[in-house]
Amino acid sequence: MVARVVTVDPFDIVVFGATGDLARRKLLPALFERDLAGQIPAEARIIGVSRRPMPAADFRRFAGDAVDASDGIEDVEPARVAAFLDRLDYVAVDAVSDDGWAELAALLATGAHRVRVFYLAVGPDLFDPICSRIGAHQLVTEKTRVVVEKPVGKDLASAREVNAAVGKVFREEAVFRIDHYLGKETVQNLMALRFANALFEPVWNNAHIDHVQITVAESIGTAGRAGYYDTAGALRDMVQNHILQLLCLVAMEPPVTLDADAVRDEKLKVLKALEPINEANAAQLTVRGQYRAGASAGGAVPGYLEELGSGASETETFVALKAEISNWRWAGVPFYLRTGKRLASRVSEIVVAFRPIPHSVFDSHAGPIMANRLVIRLQPDEGVKLWLMIKDPGPGGMRLQHVPLDMSFASVFGVRNPDAYERLIMDVIRGNQTLFMRRDEVEAAWQWVGPILDAWRTTHEAPRPYTAGTWGPSAAIALIERDGRTWTDDA
Ligand code: BG6
Repeated sequence: MVARVVTVDPFDIVVFGATGDLARRKLLPALFERDLAGQIPAEARIIGVSRRPMPAADFRRFAGDAVDASDGIEDVEPARVAAFLDRLDYVAVDAVSDDGWAELAALLATGAHRVRVFYLAVGPDLFDPICSRIGAHQLVTEKTRVVVEKPVGKDLASAREVNAAVGKVFREEAVFRIDHYLGKETVQNLMALRFANALFEPVWNNAHIDHVQITVAESIGTAGRAGYYDTAGALRDMVQNHILQLLCLVAMEPPVTLDADAVRDEKLKVLKALEPINEANAAQLTVRGQYRAGASAGGAVPGYLEELGSGASETETFVALKAEISNWRWAGVPFYLRTGKRLASRVSEIVVAFRPIPHSVFDSHAGPIMANRLVIRLQPDEGVKLWLMIKDPGPGGMRLQHVPLDMSFASVFGVRNPDAYERLIMDVIRGNQTLFMRRDEVEAAWQWVGPILDAWRTTHEAPRPYTAGTWGPSAAIALIERDGRTWTDDA
């Protein structure tokens, strides 16, 4: 099957933090892939910006290396890479002084009518100074957009500050708060599954669904980002954004259309309906963990504190939560959420566990009848599995088996799954905000997460240790087993 490619309008994308990790690992390879697919028009430019003066040729070399090192980019003709690198330019600009801004303005003036994107791949402390200078230098045109990377703040108050600083210069329709989980193929498939099939929606509620599990497990540790990670922890790094976004897509009411505000209005309602977790109930509904040395991917790995180079830190590298949504559709259906670093394997999936059948017509020889389960696997091996009971084939009476109807996207469609950033950057250029977070959504997510952080701070409870390469502290297993349920092993 061949993927359909629709060329976007001519654009200039200005990447702040152009020599940083995100640009190297994600943004430059993503832009290259889209160029290779023919989606980027000939006149489009990619302008790298950072504080360090360097010739454009050096930035092109850096980008070439980034493309070479990127997974999945192999056997590409050198001429195609060279054509991509020709689009690149570089300007040294200081975010906190006026140095370099006139040069950037002059360069952009040569493409004044194009779509203009400012991509802020920098720490959140630079959002305000960069946005104010973009405003002061009058670089915002009718077709200008700004992309804001997470974290948008570290709590509600700081998120509001970041949003206000960006909002002074850009109207909300021009602000693209990126959550790369929303760009993942299977996440969008969740919307297709729910809203393009008549089968699921009638049973998508508390009358038929017993509970939902969302697992985002990583086998890596802090991967050279221990400094940042230690100020964040798993709740801020993964739950406030990625996991709550997944929860919203599972739980939201069908939007009227897929227009950005129609979808985001529905997601916001879910966030607002989340039952508060605070000092009164955090001990029952949350588990924090921190990894100790162990084994991962076949080798010995150090513990979090060793990676951090410090003997003391109470930052959680694992969190499990039991969340509830207080509305008509979901009352009484727990959403068990868990995420962590250095877990047994890398797997992200959503499990929708249906209720058991009300009455069995089979005798005891048929064996146990397991409840249906819909598993939406985000990574690795993207796909959807629907676990059903069927009759064991052949003679021998009515014996039942639980088997998955298994649709692995790679084998069914045989196309390469684009990286989330490829789709999201093209959406920014098209001006489509459906897969981006609105200001009130980000703030509502912080509003729910804040009291959990406060409760942990008040109780001073240290994170529970778990050995690297396991599924986290045993308390996380107890969290779900107390309710007579268990984390599924589709992982
Ligand atoms: C990022 C987090 O947002 O998502 C990282 O800051 C995490 O800590 C990453 O490793 C996971 O993304 P993915 O796409 O590899 O699942």
